[in-house]
Amino acid sequence: MTKILMVCLGNICRSPLAEGILSSLSNQKKIFVDSAGTSAYHVGELPDVRSIEIAKINGIDITNQRSRQFKIKDFDNFDLIYVMDKSNFKNLRKLARNNNDIIKIKLILNELYPTQNLDVPDPYYSGDNGFRDVFKMLKNSCEIIIYNINENKR
Ligand code: 4NP
Repeated sequence: MTKILMVCLGNICRSPLAEGILSSLSNQKKIFVDSAGTSAYHVGELPDVRSIEIAKINGIDITNQRSRQFKIKDFDNFDLIYVMDKSNFKNLRKLARNNNDIIKIKLILNELYPTQNLDVPDPYYSGDNGFRDVFKMLKNSCEIIIYNINENKR
């Protein structure tokens, strides 16, 4: 079982989508997926309505999710921690206790565009198009994550 945590700032826009998409692609016995935010701004809230909507259009229900903040114990509980942008990366890097923690943190778009260190843009202040674009990049990245797990490359 590979345990994967998706992380963004608020845990209401990007990481809930990443969690929903990866879960929808995975054999539930092989992968456990969760998501969290580096901030506590939206703890306990449902995902943003625009994330719920774009997920629904693509046949994925994310309304079971509630925002939570990343905690140090997540470094122990997860094998891979995918962050949406370099700011999330820096925030987790500061919380990491040792090299074991650090090597778990990965920029999710590096799955799709290796070594380019690209950000999944924060769609919070954008319109519906922003959410559609984010959905596409996360879907493409999650397909690669699943492929690698199935090929035992992870
Ligand atoms: P997320 O988007 O990190 O993808 O969940 C955001 C949600 C809320 C805020 C920022 C980004 N905020 O500042 O409240």
